[in-house]
Amino acid sequence: MHGTSNTLPLATRKKIVDLLNDRLADAVDLYAQLKHAHWNVKGPNFIALHELFDQLAANLLPHIDDLAERCVQLGGAARGTLASITKASSLPEYPATITAGEKHIESLTEAFSIYGDLMRKAIELADTAKDKDTADLFTGISRDADKALWFIESHAQ
Ligand SMILES: [Fe+2]
Repeated sequence: MHGTSNTLPLATRKKIVDLLNDRLADAVDLYAQLKHAHWNVKGPNFIALHELFDQLAANLLPHIDDLAERCVQLGGAARGTLASITKASSLPEYPATITAGEKHIESLTEAFSIYGDLMRKAIELADTAKDKDTADLFTGISRDADKALWFIESHAQ
């Protein structure tokens, strides 16, 4: 940990930096999954899905930046290399060879469901650690994840 004048206790900051890095890994993994789907999707809804997946990926970028930068604000380091992201992500591996729109919808529905659940748990963990600012950060991310899940799963309902 680096020195900081931030008044949150060191033990809290250490715990929160680990939590932020875990969720950072999920967010970067999900970003890559969405771009993969954006590039490879095929079928009758091609243009709608191609554009939706790109938009949802773009929506993740500010969250990724906020998660990483809060790690450093709290005296930690952001673990942002692809090697550490791959190791730390809690999302299932994305099926690499699917093309059909409904298969991508299915895979991304599962990914966003897990991602949203992990973010909700992170709100609770940050709240219990008495770091309301990080809890608020996770709350915004979780709310966006629920909206993205709605956009995706509505295609299959
Ligand atoms: Fe593109």
